[in-house]
Amino acid sequence: MTASAVAPANVCLVIDGVEVTVARGTSVAAAIAHAGAGGRRSVLGQPRAPLCGMGICFECRATIDGHAQRRTCLVPAANGMVVVTDG
Ligand code: FES
Repeated sequence: MTASAVAPANVCLVIDGVEVTVARGTSVAAAIAHAGAGGRRSVLGQPRAPLCGMGICFECRATIDGHAQRRTCLVPAANGMVVVTDG
């Protein structure tokens, strides 16, 4: 589904190369979970996931539209957004 064909109540973004449609207002962190995408890994290779949901723990970081280390719990999903997790 392309962004132009998405109902106004929804947004379409790409997470790790897969198009995902979520309700407008959904955080990128929630969209990643909805998509079942991998998520970030620690420097020791352990899987990491959102913990606080309010921008404090930094466990939800991903690259959004080429900007690395964004806290995905603070960013609303948007049409055409490209998200890359490392997991
Ligand atoms: S979940 Fe803690 S900063 Fe995003």
